[in-house]
Amino acid sequence: MKTIILIGANGKIGQAALTGLGKHKIITAGRAAGSYDYQVDITSVKSLRKLYEDVGHFDAVVNAVGVCEYANFTEMTEEQWMNTILSKMMGQINIVRIGQEYIADNGSFSLISGILNEKPLPTAIADATTSGAIDTFVKCVAFEMPRGIRINSINPTVLEEAWELYGEMMPGFQPVPGALVGKAFERSVDGFITGQVIFVDA
Ligand SMILES: NC(=O)c1ccc[n+]([C@@H]2O[C@H](COP(=O)([O-])OP(=O)(O)OC[C@H]3O[C@@H](n4cnc5c(N)ncnc54)[C@H](OP(=O)(O)O)[C@@H]3O)[C@@H](O)[C@H]2O)c1
Repeated sequence: MKTIILIGANGKIGQAALTGLGKHKIITAGRAAGSYDYQVDITSVKSLRKLYEDVGHFDAVVNAVGVCEYANFTEMTEEQWMNTILSKMMGQINIVRIGQEYIADNGSFSLISGILNEKPLPTAIADATTSGAIDTFVKCVAFEMPRGIRINSINPTVLEEAWELYGEMMPGFQPVPGALVGKAFERSVDGFITGQVIFVDA
């Protein structure tokens, strides 16, 4: 049994990840006070460091957080770009940058990207760009991870559980059940692969 910090556990991807991590001890973390074992804001390095120091020993970090802003490229503001970059890109990079100081030997990081960098959609340019950045980050940083630490990203299409929210803006996409995305997180945490983008598409 591994001890896993699951960041964003109450979100749709967080709930999907949980379905694949049933045999482990899960420590939940997220932004809303009182909703998780530990409160964390992934856009704050200070908050991430406090999370790792407060938890103590852990074998894996699974991140299901990456806030994205949506607008047509010609209308997207600097602020919308920066909100997306600071959460989905730098938030996740900092989860790893700070976390590698604290995680157990042979531990693992599993990050979230998303299919829109492979299958673009109108208004999703910031999501697509930062998802692409995260996929590139895990492929390249895997070579530099110390102490046997592994890192992968999960790149899912839209979840069945989120179809009501996003289906209208995703014509021609086939949603997948959250449990399939849970399997991808399970492969990342319990397998031996590293530097991989694990696609989950229909
Ligand atoms: N849903 C899909 O079908 C799907 C498919 C592919 C990829 N993705 C990607 O997966 C990621 C998560 O999407 P989702 O649909 O699961 O979103 P969601 O349901 O809105 O959940 C977001 C989670 O992130 C937490 N959170 C937000 N900002 C945070 C911060 N600064 N620090 C810590 N926690 C924070 C929220 O916590 P609180 O509740 O405490 O605010 C919540 O638990 C996104 O990057 C999205 O692009 C989603």
